[in-house]
Amino acid sequence: MTLCQYRRFRPCDGASYDSGVEVLNVFGGSRLQGDVTVPGAKNSVLKLMAAALLAEGTTTLTNVPDILDVAIMAELVRRLGCTVAHDPEAGRISIGVPAQLNHRADYDLVRRMRASICVLGPLLSRCGEVDVALPGGDNIGSRGLDMHVGGLLRMGAQVLSEHGYLHATCGRLHGARIWLDFPSVGATETILMAAVRADGVTIIDNAAREPEIVDICRMLVDMGAAITGIGTSTLEIEGVAELQPVTHAVVGDRIVAGTWAVAAVMTRGDVSVHQVDPDHLRIALEKLQECGAQVSNLEDGFRVQMDRRPLSVDVVTLPFPGFPTDLQPQFIAMNAIADGAALVTENLFEARFRFVQELARLGADVRTDGHHALVRGTTELSGAPVEATDIRAGAGLVLAGLVAEGVTTVYGVGHIDRGYADFVPNLRNLGATVERAEDSALF
Ligand code: UD1
Repeated sequence: MTLCQYRRFRPCDGASYDSGVEVLNVFGGSRLQGDVTVPGAKNSVLKLMAAALLAEGTTTLTNVPDILDVAIMAELVRRLGCTVAHDPEAGRISIGVPAQLNHRADYDLVRRMRASICVLGPLLSRCGEVDVALPGGDNIGSRGLDMHVGGLLRMGAQVLSEHGYLHATCGRLHGARIWLDFPSVGATETILMAAVRADGVTIIDNAAREPEIVDICRMLVDMGAAITGIGTSTLEIEGVAELQPVTHAVVGDRIVAGTWAVAAVMTRGDVSVHQVDPDHLRIALEKLQECGAQVSNLEDGFRVQMDRRPLSVDVVTLPFPGFPTDLQPQFIAMNAIADGAALVTENLFEARFRFVQELARLGADVRTDGHHALVRGTTELSGAPVEATDIRAGAGLVLAGLVAEGVTTVYGVGHIDRGYADFVPNLRNLGATVERAEDSALF
């Protein structure tokens, strides 16, 4: 399947629309009940696809989510010279990596998906040279690259930023001791993927420890990399000469799982979430228990039951194992209908509160001041048209729509498609009344 054939590509393509824009109409009042299976994590699979570039031959990923970002990443690796066989229904993607790769990631793809930057480390390692378009900021914040670049410089690369591209070259990369100012997910991945084939030992101190980082480390180890300290904040990587292609199952998406958990609480429902490790979202699940929900472990996931209006709960976002920023909008939506007031503190992305203005259109009482949001719970939200500004904001607005009186029309569906596979069918299976529709009012 090519990117252009991808059925959900149109909304983000910039192409003209024949009959309108896609929206989600969410009808409030349903109680979510039943089982839902979580696909592989978006934030893992994109990096695993980049990691595949490190070994010549065919690497196959399973448990791949059927989301737009995977199609964009597939197009990117194709342009780097790989062959890609993508079966979205089967959740499988095979990437045939040639001996010689192109080393340029163009702006037209990078601007659509900031995570494209994750090819930086693997391409530098394989080609000794890389040009990646600078992604710039996005709807959740400025998102710097200084730690990515700083790490590569310490490993002997020369890095230049010109004409909107990051241009990096190296003879051979060498191991180095690198202290990150902040446990950045992206910087940890860039340095890790550059280090696995470098000369000597690289130590990353204050490394990110997200489950998605652990997933990448596990795949790299299967490929032949020598990494210790996996899952801790000190990663030690001894470079090897060559890596081998592998088959790897993507870790379950904890953020999608957490979104279902919050949906269960908000709708006073009973939802069993499968194919995810509850330890990957322990703090979020504990917060839901504080709200009054019952949370129990299942063999392959967890179950959330709720029978009353949730109590409000404070949240502070932090790197893993702290509370994930990617669940912050969903928790704001929940606090908007909870009993009491909650203080939500966002420490990672300064612009993530943008969606609060949309939530206010539904009647939510939220005030923001810098990186704090004070959410005063109200007993009722009322449906209205709203615009999703990013993936998680989109999820938060849909959740709010589930409990708002009347119909909530969510614009910006393309954002939700970037991170949530089969969102509407899954919501429907759980008992929600939601439809994907074309809004032609503008045309
Ligand atoms: C990844 C996730 C994103 C998640 C985030 C934090 C993907 C595709 N995205 O984003 O969903 O919300 O982790 O869990 O995996 N920073 C710098 N300089 C750098 C690197 C980062 O200043 O060199 C800043 C960023 O601007 C941001 C913060 O550090 O404010 C966190 O960024 P980082 O952990 O790198 O997140 P991403 O990898 O961009």
